[in-house]
Amino acid sequence: MLAGGKATRLRPLTKVTNKHLLPIYDRPLIYYPLQAMARAGVQDVLVITNPEHAGHFIQLLGSGREFGLKLAYELQEEAGGLAQAVSLAASFVGNDRMLVLLGDNIFTDDLRPAVERFTAQASGAVIFGVETAHPEQYGVIEMRGERVIGIEEKPSAPRSNLVQTGIYMYDTEVWSHLQGLEPSARGELEITDLNNIYVTAGTMRCETLEGYWIDAGTSHDELLAANVEVARLRRQGEI
Ligand code: G1P
Repeated sequence: MLAGGKATRLRPLTKVTNKHLLPIYDRPLIYYPLQAMARAGVQDVLVITNPEHAGHFIQLLGSGREFGLKLAYELQEEAGGLAQAVSLAASFVGNDRMLVLLGDNIFTDDLRPAVERFTAQASGAVIFGVETAHPEQYGVIEMRGERVIGIEEKPSAPRSNLVQTGIYMYDTEVWSHLQGLEPSARGELEITDLNNIYVTAGTMRCETLEGYWIDAGTSHDELLAANVEVARLRRQGEI
């Protein structure tokens, strides 16, 4: 579970507080992806965050018992990007495969069937796509038939409306792929660059989310939209 970063797009809300602890209706944002982990059948979760806020996460989430999870914590000491954060999970994950969730993504799909499909496949990785009206804010997926042929991070001229959400599944090849990554123009190891290694190898699969999805960390308006929609979904017992 990735919950670090500076969240500059949400200033001043995030000047003191970590983005993933901001309220979404009646709960802190990170509760939603943590519940999704539990629903997916995952038991052991590593929460990766920055040193300034790690204490807050431990106070809030503790052992994870409330979620039916066993939580561990890891510090990302520099703003090194999402892929650098993933690399910090190496000893925690060991020889297993992993599900990576970005702590600011809220969605209603149950990932358990996708976890089962991933477990059944020999190797590779999976991304989860959704159609959006504003693809330029995300990693944009280009498909040819069923095949992923490229992912472009926040392009000014998107090649499609299909974007990758903050849900990723990786096999054990991920550790060697991470070692080959170079920092991007903004000096970070990008999750999109990691995913494109699988794309180039022909081992990236894209599944489509059916239900509601939002990246609440994109802007103040998305944060507000997430609050409004989650309030409605919670009242209907859908999340
Ligand atoms: C990250 C990824 C992006 C993806 C998005 C989904 O962007 O870099 O490819 O589409 O998460 O939430 P960020 O929100 O960190 O800018």
